[in-house]
Parts: sequence; C-alpha cells; structure tokens
Amino acid sequence: MSDFLKAKIKNRVYRWFREEVDAVKASISSIDLLKVEAQSLRAETGALHAETAALHAETAALHAETAALHAETATLRAEAATLRAEIAQLENTMPILRNEIGVLRFQIEPLQSKLYQNWLASSQSYGRLLSVPGKDDDLAPLHKGYKVFTNSHSWIDFDQLTNSESPDKVVYKKTIDFAGEFANEQHRALSVAPGGRMGLDYLIDIGIDGFLLTADALKIYEMAYFSDGNILELGTHKGLSTTIIAGALEDSNHGLLETIDIDVDTNEMARNNVSTRPGSQRVTFTVKNATDRLDELVADGRKFGFIFVDHWHGYDATFEVAIRAIDLLVPGGFILFHDFVNSGNFDREHVYGVFPAIIDAILPDDRFRFYGNSGCCALFRVES
Ligand SMILES: C[S@@+](CC[C@H](N)C(=O)[O-])C[C@H]1O[C@@H](n2cnc3c(N)ncnc32)[C@H](O)[C@@H]1O
Repeated sequence: MSDFLKAKIKNRVYRWFREEVDAVKASISSIDLLKVEAQSLRAETGALHAETAALHAETAALHAETAALHAETATLRAEAATLRAEIAQLENTMPILRNEIGVLRFQIEPLQSKLYQNWLASSQSYGRLLSVPGKDDDLAPLHKGYKVFTNSHSWIDFDQLTNSESPDKVVYKKTIDFAGEFANEQHRALSVAPGGRMGLDYLIDIGIDGFLLTADALKIYEMAYFSDGNILELGTHKGLSTTIIAGALEDSNHGLLETIDIDVDTNEMARNNVSTRPGSQRVTFTVKNATDRLDELVADGRKFGFIFVDHWHGYDATFEVAIRAIDLLVPGGFILFHDFVNSGNFDREHVYGVFPAIIDAILPDDRFRFYGNSGCCALFRVES
C-alpha cells in the first residue's frame, strides 16, 4: 500500500474517531443539561406540592367556616322564629290588657273623685280651723300669768299638712311668753342635741330610740315645764318623750306624769331608760289600752294640765282620745297630738288618721282653740 493510501486511510480513521469523540462529547453534555433540567423540575414539583397542601388547608378552613356560618344561621332562624311567636302572642294579649286597663280606669276614677271629695271636705274644715279668732295672740287667755302665743307662722296651709318635708319647716317657737328663746338650759340643750337616731338624721338623739323631731321635743318640754297640773302621756314606747316630760317636771319642781302604753316588752325598756334620768320618781307607768285607761281616769274625775298623744296614730284611736280630752283637761290645759302633719292625712284608707280624727272630734267643739304646729305636732287648748 502506498504511503498516500495509508495516509488517506489514517486520515479517514482519525476523522471518524474524531467524529465519534465529538458525538460522545455532545451526548455527555446533553446528559448534564438533562440533569440540570431534572433538578429544576424536582424543585418546581416540590413547590407545587407545598402550594397544593396550602390550598388544601385553606379549603378545609373555608369548609369549616361555612359549616359554622350554616350553624349560626340555623340558630338565628330558630331565634327569629321564637321571637316571631312571642310577638304574635303579645299582640294577642295586648287587646286583653288594654281592655283590662280600661276597666280599671273606670273603677279608679270614682275612687279618685271620692278621695278628692274627702280632701276638699277636710280642706274646708281645716280652713275653718285656721280662721277662728284663736289665731290672734291678743285673744288668747293668759297661762299661769304668762301671755300665750298662737304661733300663726306655724298654721301651715292644708296642702303642706301632707308634705313629709313640712315637719322640718314647722320650726319650734315658744307658746308661753317666757323670757328668752328657751325656758332654761335643759330646754336649750334639746335644741342643740344631735340628730340621726336610728339612722334618720331628722330624729333627735338623746340616747333613747324614738320618733321625735327636735321641734317636737322642744314643744313637749315647754308644755310640760309650764303645765298647769299633772301630765298624761299616751304612747310610752322606750321612754324618749317620757324622759323629756319627767325632766321638765323635775326642772320646774312640780307635777306628776302618768304614761300609758299597751306593750309590755318596750315598757320594761322605758322603765330602765327613765329610771336613770331626772324626774323618774314623778313617773307612773301604766300598761293598758289607752282608751280603756282614759275611761277609768274620766270615771275617777282625774284632770291634767297637759296631755301628749303619741300612741296608735289610727283614726279610731285618735278620735277616741280627742272626744275624751275635754273631760280630762283643766280649763286652759293643752293637748299636743303627734303626727298631725303626716303624709297619710288625706287618704281615709291610710292607717294614720290623726288629722281627720282631730278635724272630726275637736273642730266642732268651740271650747278648743288651735295653737299651731311644732315639728309634726299640733297643739290645742281648752279655753273654757
Ligand atoms: C310612736 S310610739 C310612742 C313613742 C314615744 N312617745 C316616744 O317618744 O318615743 C307608739 C306607742 O304606742 C303604743 N300603743 C299603740 N297602740 C296603743 C293603744 N291602743 N294603747 C296604748 N298604747 C298603744 C305602742 O306600743 C308604742 O309603744
């Protein structure tokens, strides 16, 4: 073989070899590319898996929320149905109630008018009481040589007699024309005694439970101190007013007090309270129904210079005392009724009936004159 041919064959083999090597090289590089692509596809698939999982979770949450909303809607629908049923029932009841109200109004109106008639009648009677000549101080007979005041400032309007604030407005002013503002130091001490007994700031506190305003206490002391004779008290309770009266008798060094109460238990307390205070030796305690005791006293011909009425404040009990008072008082004697100024005054159905009882029993009797109010008390005097 010629060199030329040999070189040609060698050249051809070399070229073939080269082509083969290039082909293998090309195939290797395409495998690398495929590997890179596979890697990127794996990463993409992973991300898609994660996204799908997140979407699944979101869908589950939305399903749960939808279920909860369905449940809430069902509850609200049920509630609305119940309310609709309730409204329907109320709408059915309303005409019945309206009818009932109409019937009650029909019944109430005549009652209101009855109350108004009572009010009007009492008002006219009270007006007559206020217009009697006794309102004039100069016409009042002397008391134990003293000029006597009828205290017209305290002859409050009929309307104010029911006003629970009135007792505070009816301040104490003396009835007997003694020198100065107070009868003595003990009297003055009452005027500055603290309030607040039993938690009520308007009740005087001198160490014994009871229902006296300062103006009540001052008037009781004054009338007891200047009493023309012995004293009778109805309603001892725990001895508050009893102590004031006993002290006044001791201070003026005259007279005796009989105090009446129906309650055995509180009477024991009253005896203890009074026993340690001035004037206790002047006090007789009677445990009995007041009217029964008054009948005994009238039968015995007993007379008193001052009577303080503070037992049961009902109409009957007060009326029974008021019509007997003329037989128990000395001429010129005074009688003081507690709770004359009271919110129950114009309602004849109210348990308290001091004002109407006095209007019915004392007003028609010309021998009595009105001497004004002090606190919630009303003072009357027998003038002949
Ligand atoms: C308001 S308290 C008397 C208060 C007393 N004056 C004071 O200053 O504390 C009324 C009293 O009247 C008595 N009482 C009620 N009805 C009575 C009656 N028919 N006869 C006698 N006392 C009666 C009660 O037992 C009670 O103690």
